[in-house]
Amino acid sequence: MKVLVAGSSGGIGAAIADKLRADGDYVLTISRFGEPSSSHLVCDLTKPESVDQVSKFLADRGPVDAVFCCTGILHGGWNMPEKSLLQLTSEWLQQNMLVNVQSHIHLAQAIAPQVKRTAPIKWVSLSAMVGSIEDNALGGWYSYRMSKAALNMFIRNLSIEWGRKAPGSVVVAQHPGTTDTGLSEPFQSGVAKGKLYSREQTASRLIVVMKKLSEKEHGKLLYWDGSVIVF
Ligand SMILES: NC(=O)c1ccc[n+]([C@@H]2O[C@H](COP(=O)([O-])OP(=O)(O)OC[C@H]3O[C@@H](n4cnc5c(N)ncnc54)[C@H](OP(=O)(O)O)[C@@H]3O)[C@@H](O)[C@H]2O)c1
Repeated sequence: MKVLVAGSSGGIGAAIADKLRADGDYVLTISRFGEPSSSHLVCDLTKPESVDQVSKFLADRGPVDAVFCCTGILHGGWNMPEKSLLQLTSEWLQQNMLVNVQSHIHLAQAIAPQVKRTAPIKWVSLSAMVGSIEDNALGGWYSYRMSKAALNMFIRNLSIEWGRKAPGSVVVAQHPGTTDTGLSEPFQSGVAKGKLYSREQTASRLIVVMKKLSEKEHGKLLYWDGSVIVF
């Protein structure tokens, strides 16, 4: 398969790209970091100009069969996820919306011209279980939860549009499971024994699910094993 991995310097993104290459898939990557090459685009997907940059990069490489969009943010600098309402700031909410939602939108906009009746696509946006409104029994983490809920709605919309435009396409959001990366690092002490997964384990699981994606998962939020999480 020809697979595009965005956010390829991240813990899960890098592991997915490595595993796909090891499996013999043809992998294109996008990240803010690294050396530009025939298979790697250096670009910040939160910026509007990324739509043009990605379109140009993909133009002479033909349509991709599948996409993993692995960009996301939970904490950064002095900002940790909010424990209560009064910790919620517009700056941090906007930063979450930018990285957790807008970067996925820019990538989809860049790829949209390639998605056709003759070229359906499998699209996986890494989201999070805490973005499920139904599953939220704990509260807190306002910006992250709200931005992931918005991402989930984007994915449902995109699935409807691309399902009509390119039947056979499967568009999903997916919770990767708590994985040992920089993103989860400050919270790992609270993770139940055996529930913190290695990057390699997560990458292998997500790839297995992606390769088997079918109409029944289209437009859904999936758990790492491919089962459906209610929105
Ligand atoms: N790790 C977990 O336990 C866990 C659990 C649930 C959901 N997730 C989701 O899984 C995805 C991957 O997470 P991860 O654990 O691999 O996190 P990570 O190691 O922090 O990687 C996230 C990637 O997102 C992009 N990114 C982050 N901040 C950015 C910014 N300010 N501007 C532009 N791009 C930015 C970067 O891509 P580049 O550096 O390549 O540009 C970064 O490498 C995220 O969407 C996350 O929400 C992770």
